[in-house]
Amino acid sequence: MQQAVKPVIAGSFSALAWQDNTLRLLDQRLLPAREVYVECTDAAQVATAIVDMQVRGAPAIGIAGAYGIALQARVIATSMDWAASLAESFELLEAARPTAINLSWALKMMRDRLARLPSDADVPARLLEAARSIHQSDHEANLAMGRLGMQLIRNHHKTPQNLLTHCNTGALATGGYGTALGVVRAAHEAGLVDTLFIDETRPWLQGSRLTAWEMERAGINACVHVDAAAGHLMKTREITWVIVGADRIAANGDVINKIGTYALSILAMHHGLRFMVVAPSSSIDMALESGDDVEVEERCAAELFTLGNQSIDAGIPAFNPVFDVTPADLIDVIVTEKGIVERPDTKKLADLMSHRHLH
Ligand code: MRU
Repeated sequence: MQQAVKPVIAGSFSALAWQDNTLRLLDQRLLPAREVYVECTDAAQVATAIVDMQVRGAPAIGIAGAYGIALQARVIATSMDWAASLAESFELLEAARPTAINLSWALKMMRDRLARLPSDADVPARLLEAARSIHQSDHEANLAMGRLGMQLIRNHHKTPQNLLTHCNTGALATGGYGTALGVVRAAHEAGLVDTLFIDETRPWLQGSRLTAWEMERAGINACVHVDAAAGHLMKTREITWVIVGADRIAANGDVINKIGTYALSILAMHHGLRFMVVAPSSSIDMALESGDDVEVEERCAAELFTLGNQSIDAGIPAFNPVFDVTPADLIDVIVTEKGIVERPDTKKLADLMSHRHLH
């Protein structure tokens, strides 16, 4: 059983932290009302935290998965065949949430690390190092993307601008700082943000609960609206950019992200706004030819039929897909830590991933 532990110090938080040989996760189901950390000590607890969305956001899920393997290695302590001993945990974690490619990416990094270790290696210690390095590189990638995205915003207009975002792509969803919200943070630091408009992001409210909470702590001027207000806002508030993250990017540049992203891209095109996707290269799935080939995760009807503690179930079924696919031709630019790709397509993404990309 996971245990709830003490609240975080006001003003600072980390969605994931390794401490005293446990993984501490800030329980994102309880924010913003309560800041409670849960402790995980094995892979199964981490898998449950991912399924239950105590930890969420593509990069954060990947990092949690990596720590899950490190935890399980500590539980096993010694083994004659580590790959066999950890096989079940790899499977369990991999199945926890299907859409975010970062989870299978991070688990593959852990598998590869394990396969390369010499036979006399201290496996639990080496796997912990590998998980920490995945965590650290994600944080660094966020900072790099923040700078690149901020420059795009500055190139567009030198003055403070109104931006619009969807879901939560901040420090809560990553190894720290954020992807799309990292760009917003960097743009804010450069004096380029007037107001960040935040889609509430039905039904789980990542926008109104999590992004709003992060922006308040960061002192960034922000305002929440219902998802259905986005078109009206674009028409009336001189928004320059829609900035979102990704759970997976296909080889042709199609972006799989939180349900509602596709609709925003169409609205942005109609209103002449620029559309930026910010994601680390670990979100790019070169094995996925196009977004049409991805199986979109659906979650339970209860997420739609519960309002606070009240049931609003009228007795008919619900359709609750949690991601959608935005076609590459509706995207102005993809920002990664390796560089930016304007008007993405298969060739440009292949160049980026093979380091031939220049920006
Ligand atoms: O269901 P969630 O909250 O895990 O979905 C998160 C998103 O869709 C994010 O936009 C995406 O994971 C990128 S987070 C940096």
